Amino acid sequence: MLTVAVGDVIEGEVCDFASEGEGIVKIGSYAVFVPFAVKGEIIRARVRYAKKDYAFADLIEVEKPSADRIKPKCTYFGTCGGCDLQHVTRECQLKIKKANVENALKKTGGLDVEVADVVRLNDWEYRNKIALPFGYKRKTGRVTLGFYEKRTHSVVPMKWCALHGEWAAKLIQIVTDWANFNHISVYDETSGQGILRHVVARNLDTLSVTLVVNSDRVPKLAELCQNLEKEFSGVCVYISENRKNTNVIFGKSVKLVYGKEKKQNLGTFDAVVSPMSFLQVNNDVRDAIYDEVCKELANFDGDILEFYSGVGLLTAQIATRLKEANITSVEIEPSAVDNANALMKSLGLDKRVKCVCGDVLEYVKSIEKGSEQTKSQDEDLPDEIKSSPFYLGESEKKTARKPVALVLDPPRKGCDKSVLDCAIEAKIEKIVYVSCNPQTLARDLKILSQSYDVERVTPFDMFPQTSNVEVMCVLQRK
Ligand SMILES: C[S@@+](CC[C@H](N)C(=O)[O-])C[C@H]1O[C@@H](n2cnc3c(N)ncnc32)[C@H](O)[C@@H]1O
Repeated sequence: MLTVAVGDVIEGEVCDFASEGEGIVKIGSYAVFVPFAVKGEIIRARVRYAKKDYAFADLIEVEKPSADRIKPKCTYFGTCGGCDLQHVTRECQLKIKKANVENALKKTGGLDVEVADVVRLNDWEYRNKIALPFGYKRKTGRVTLGFYEKRTHSVVPMKWCALHGEWAAKLIQIVTDWANFNHISVYDETSGQGILRHVVARNLDTLSVTLVVNSDRVPKLAELCQNLEKEFSGVCVYISENRKNTNVIFGKSVKLVYGKEKKQNLGTFDAVVSPMSFLQVNNDVRDAIYDEVCKELANFDGDILEFYSGVGLLTAQIATRLKEANITSVEIEPSAVDNANALMKSLGLDKRVKCVCGDVLEYVKSIEKGSEQTKSQDEDLPDEIKSSPFYLGESEKKTARKPVALVLDPPRKGCDKSVLDCAIEAKIEKIVYVSCNPQTLARDLKILSQSYDVERVTPFDMFPQTSNVEVMCVLQRK
């Protein structure tokens, strides 16, 4: 097979897009991935990284541009690691995302299912959350905030971001001005010295700002809070102490140091969302997906299990629409479960909705363990276990239960295999699976499709200008 070496310049036609939007140039059967090259273009690129079967190359020149190529809106595009598709039209972005889902389902999942067109609701300034590392500007040594350059930990200084509204630009200005004026040091990964690590902010009705620091005290914090309050009335400021040399942004907890936590408008409901709780980043798309999930369950006559349930926004919507259903939700992050419990209580849903705080895998195992116990010891188990769809013990010990639908919305790594095996074994009737990673979704659907028909696959453009995509799938037991 023909191969290339680092430093080689290659020239050729881009035959397709890869999963992160890179163009693929083939030299025989050898694939060279070229970020920012567009299908159909003739390009020249310099090889940056080469392996036996594939290489990565940096685009030098577009000799014949594609009609899908456009001028990126953002001046940081290409250096900042945030967006990877600003250089193509939105229509082209949607085609790339749909093809990613189709390819993953076919190649990883072995599934030949129809994928709907990607639902597009907005294009720019859609993100409600920003997380920025602190760094120093190379030339001036001034404190800056920015995104990490792709594959590095070097901060690209940023004044604004096209995926966030004007609020992010103001926030960056206020925080960096404060840090520079007061000479507050930036954390250095190598030495472990310095204070400021990250700013994490969520912009809903009001702004919440968390300063992640390598210290138990932050100098001139009151000044920062006042400066923020002047621009963002009602702001809440939190500190999270993180002294570990880790890529995880938050420390163990966050401490409210300024303002009062308030309910925020979150589509159908108002709710408090703590900084460490997960919230979908695109409000419009979040609401559209929740609506579709509820429509899929509208005629389901049974109970609901929801795994990876976050702050319970979807849980509450399902519960208000399915008035007869009992719902059990499982979520690992304690602050999210606190938020969910408060929401259920405020909506009067707490009698029918039980929000369990824990690892989904442990939850499933605990029910399985209960099943095993009864098999061997004929013990009397709590109703909670006997009525669970995961209870696999003697059938006469089972509490009569209604059919159960399972809602899954795991993080990028997808579901544990044993969770899926248990769903199959427990004969869950219907599964609605929401995923932000087509690859792990496809891997999981391959397991589930032994016992389920994949009836619907609808991608949603939760992350415009990037190659990421959210997918909702509906599965019905065969
Ligand atoms: C993609 S989010 C979805 C949250 C929620 N469905 C929503 O729409 O906001 C995944 C959630 O799973 C939680 N999570 C991650 N690993 C978990 C596990 N092993 N067991 C339970 N929850 C987990 C995360 O804390 C996060 O809230």
